[in-house]
Amino acid sequence: MKQEYKCTIDSVEMLNSDTVYLGINCPDIALNAVPGQFVNISCGRFLKRPFGIADTDKDKGLFFVGVKIVGEGTRLISEFKAGDEISVLGPLGNGFDLTGVDKAILVSGGTGVFPINFLSKHLKASGVETTVVQGFRDQSQVILNDPSYVLTTDSGDAGIKGTCIDGLDSLDMSKIEGATVFCVGPIVMMKFVGLWARNKGLKCYVSMEQRMACGIGICLCCIVKVKADNEDGYYNKRCCKDGPVFDYEEVIW
Ligand SMILES: Cc1cc2nc3c(=O)[nH]c(=O)nc-3n(C[C@H](O)[C@H](O)[C@H](O)COP(=O)(O)OP(=O)(O)OC[C@H]3O[C@@H](n4cnc5c(N)ncnc54)[C@H](O)[C@@H]3O)c2cc1C
Ligand code: FES
Repeated sequence: MKQEYKCTIDSVEMLNSDTVYLGINCPDIALNAVPGQFVNISCGRFLKRPFGIADTDKDKGLFFVGVKIVGEGTRLISEFKAGDEISVLGPLGNGFDLTGVDKAILVSGGTGVFPINFLSKHLKASGVETTVVQGFRDQSQVILNDPSYVLTTDSGDAGIKGTCIDGLDSLDMSKIEGATVFCVGPIVMMKFVGLWARNKGLKCYVSMEQRMACGIGICLCCIVKVKADNEDGYYNKRCCKDGPVFDYEEVIW
């Protein structure tokens, strides 16, 4: 159930030079959000900005988002202080389909680390055997890491030198067989992770991060083309309302 809430910033933590982690007080979102969903946060400019839910603390009524500063809106959000009141719409979109999942490989690139963090905690708490592969540009970007994760960096100054695919190739067959793959990151990365999964015969879900405006399925600016058995060979889905999670095999890449 999505709603617009007036929320209070509870905590602000810089994770690295350009990424801030916000704890936001909103008991309804903390209680109802599931991994894969996102919220739209006001930033004092036209249009709220979408962010994947990175974690929740139901007892304290908090949810968390990580925000990488890439433009004006995210810069303004990074300047929020504890006690500030903000407007949040959420939780939005559909979560990951976890039906029948008893083994999982989670793959994150860049800010995909945030929704993957929420999913990883949820799966572990549910007793699902979970392997996490994280990809970053270099060590200065590494956040929300755990020693049990497979870490890759493009530069090679932390973890395996290479991309998430090199991280996936390093996994034992015992972690791969029968797993479902969940991936959030840049589009090119998700495309190749999906191909990797297909070659191993694994089901793969991706979370798309299209440019969004309304976030609730009205403006049609966040279209993802999916395969269809019609004249055109495709139809349009709305990333915000029908996604942001999609089956890798349904997306036209
Ligand atoms: C479902 C969803 C979940 C997201 N989750 C997160 C998250 O957990 N953490 C996080 O830091 N960011 C996340 N994003 C991306 C975030 O919404 C954008 O970075 C933000 O809206 C940019 O706002 P801005 O005003 O700072 O940038 P703008 O000034 O609008 O743009 C600055 C730059 O960012 C790029 N950009 C803008 N919007 C997006 C987008 N949607 N996806 C990719 N690049 C974009 C632009 O192309 C431009 O290069 C998510 C996006 C979506 C759609
Ligand atoms: S952002 Fe408006 S329909 Fe998706």
